[in-house]
Amino acid sequence: MNNVSNLSIYAIQLFDASGKPLLEEGAEPVVPDEERIRRVLAGGVARHIENEGRYPMVGLPFPVNGESYALFVMLKSNELWMQSSREVNTELLTVFLIGSFLVLAAARFIVKPLLQLRDAAGRMAQGHFDVQLRTSRKDEIGQLNASFNEMARELAKLDRMRREFVANVSHEIQSPLTSISGFAKAMKQKRMSEESRMHYLTIIEEESDRLSRISHNLLRLSSLQHDRHSVQSAAFRLDEQLRNVVIALEPQWSSKEIDVELDLEPVTIHADEDQLSQVWTNLLGNGIKFTPVRGRVGIRAYIDDRSAIVRIADNGIGIPEDQRTDIFKPFHKADKARDRAVSGSGLGLSIVKQIVDMHKGEIRADEEPGGGSVFTVQLPLGREL
Ligand SMILES: Nc1ncnc2c1ncn2[C@@H]1O[C@H](COP(=O)(O)OP(=O)(O)O)[C@@H](O)[C@H]1O
Ligand SMILES: [Mg+2]
Repeated sequence: MNNVSNLSIYAIQLFDASGKPLLEEGAEPVVPDEERIRRVLAGGVARHIENEGRYPMVGLPFPVNGESYALFVMLKSNELWMQSSREVNTELLTVFLIGSFLVLAAARFIVKPLLQLRDAAGRMAQGHFDVQLRTSRKDEIGQLNASFNEMARELAKLDRMRREFVANVSHEIQSPLTSISGFAKAMKQKRMSEESRMHYLTIIEEESDRLSRISHNLLRLSSLQHDRHSVQSAAFRLDEQLRNVVIALEPQWSSKEIDVELDLEPVTIHADEDQLSQVWTNLLGNGIKFTPVRGRVGIRAYIDDRSAIVRIADNGIGIPEDQRTDIFKPFHKADKARDRAVSGSGLGLSIVKQIVDMHKGEIRADEEPGGGSVFTVQLPLGREL
């Protein structure tokens, strides 16, 4: 009993029939009073949870060989519990502090960048495309920022292109309008020779035609760029189409006494006939326009590696090397000063490029040996051909 009493977190006290303690007197903080010992010896049970509940005790009758004894068991580990609860409290506090720190870290590393992203998106929604998020992070947030920056750059580029386009359109429309209104005002003068009147009227007529061409080309380009505008494919003879375009442009090349050379192999292609006719008209029109009087324009068509190749060459003024890709952009003219003399809005090659792209073909401009330019169009022959 002594051993058990010492071992456990319980203190055990045993009293004989006379109420004398049998076990060694330990350092038990609480000893049951005589009244309770008597009650237990008489066969009752005593419970005792005083002392602010720190040492709960229970007394039980403990008969051995007909003799009655009183056994009292006291829980003396409350101090232990209190100590451990203090430890638990310290641990809880530590966990709380670490938790708070983690929340702060999360706020700094996750919430803050997201708020920056939200603000940047808000600024972009108001039309400021110059926003760039600064980040050196490589994780998901870093990748998100990098994608956002990329998107902002692309949008800024598109916005710049849109502004340029609008500026170009207004400029192109403004110059014919200025001439028309200027010559119309001049014609209000009463005294004017019939010859000058005819001259002014011709200019007004030409400038109106130019306006109408610009608007027609703009509409055409916009409708081609529109997704819904699709390629109406049909099989037709490309060489015959090229011959027809040459015939249609006869007034232009014969008035400049230009020599048109044809080298056309029979080529059947599956493509949009109307659109391709526009391509050859624009390319041949340019060849004639940028070639001096009594110049030469050559058209070749042949099949190479399941593709139709059309080459339109001239011995005109040529295109500077650094302009050979830009000329396919809307309103781009290789030499602005020079082109004022030759009418044109710089939309023709953009339309050509758009149509060639829609046919999954390719177009490029090169220098023709001996001077001049050559445009090479490569088009897939199309299905089942
Ligand atoms: N065959 C050519 N020879 C020289 N320059 C050309 C030729 N074709 C096109 N260009 C250049 O490319 C520019 C764009 O051509 P295009 O889009 O057809 O516009 P436009 O004919 O209305 O000027 C022309 O202004 C011209 O500077
Ligand atoms: Mg043109």
